[in-house]
Amino acid sequence: MITFKQVSKRYEDGTTAVQPLDLHIEQGEFFVLVGPSGCGKTTTLKMINRLIEPTGGSIYVNGTDNNTIQVHKLRQQIGYVLQQIALFPHMTVEENIAVTPDLLHWDRSRTSKRIDELLHMVGMDPAVFRSRRPDELSGGQQQRIGVIRALAADPPVILMDEPFSALDPIARERLQNDLLQLQQTIRKTIVFVTHDIQEAVKLGDRIAIMNEGTIIQVDTPQRLLQQPANSFVEQFFQSIRQDGMSISTVSGNEGTI
Ligand SMILES: Nc1ncnc2c1ncn2[C@@H]1O[C@H](COP(=O)(O)OP(=O)(O)OP(=O)(O)O)[C@@H](O)[C@H]1O
Ligand SMILES: [Mg+2]
Repeated sequence: MITFKQVSKRYEDGTTAVQPLDLHIEQGEFFVLVGPSGCGKTTTLKMINRLIEPTGGSIYVNGTDNNTIQVHKLRQQIGYVLQQIALFPHMTVEENIAVTPDLLHWDRSRTSKRIDELLHMVGMDPAVFRSRRPDELSGGQQQRIGVIRALAADPPVILMDEPFSALDPIARERLQNDLLQLQQTIRKTIVFVTHDIQEAVKLGDRIAIMNEGTIIQVDTPQRLLQQPANSFVEQFFQSIRQDGMSISTVSGNEGTI
């Protein structure tokens, strides 16, 4: 579904954020990019929808080089949830969710039905929440709107950049569970960035461990735990081992830890 061929990024000031990288993400896969701050996760993610242009290599989305598609067409296929909560503050919940459907000229009743459907999916009553503004929602509720806004026009690919990092542990766990449950029905290709290995293990079908602009190892959570490629990967998993999680409880696919 998404293929990186020797993709690299060097910023204008000379910083090499991503070194030539090969990667294949399957359709319907929940794929997690994890690694320490500054290792190149956001840069890698943003090159998929061309918020950042690579300086080398090509990225194929559904078999097509994303550089040959008009940017707005490309982004219609790709939902995006930002690192920081980024709802439009002056718009209501329904207006926020309707942004992409409006760009696509959906008719009012179709958009309205979709808004209700999405709010129900994340357990928020449309009668209560449709006309609220972001500052009238809790952080967790805002982030849920951020997630369903990315789903609004039903894109096959969703990119999520640390979507839950601003939340307290309880809200975070709740949203992780919501997202896993949602994915059982929607089966999107999700590329999810986090620096939290526990979150990666809970959510990912496969995980790519990044460090200093390269991918160190890509595998299922279980195999990463059992066969770490090097001491960096092993140390990354240390926190999980210390928490006493056994390998058998780390299923990745079911998300049950
Ligand atoms: N516009 C830019 N110009 C120059 N360097 C940049 C730019 N954006 C990012 N970088 C650098 O590129 C590297 C990778 O940044 P990136 O944002 O991809 O990291 P990240 O893994 O997402 O980090 P975090 O976990 O902190 O969000 C960092 O060294 C960063 O300082
Ligand atoms: Mg980042």
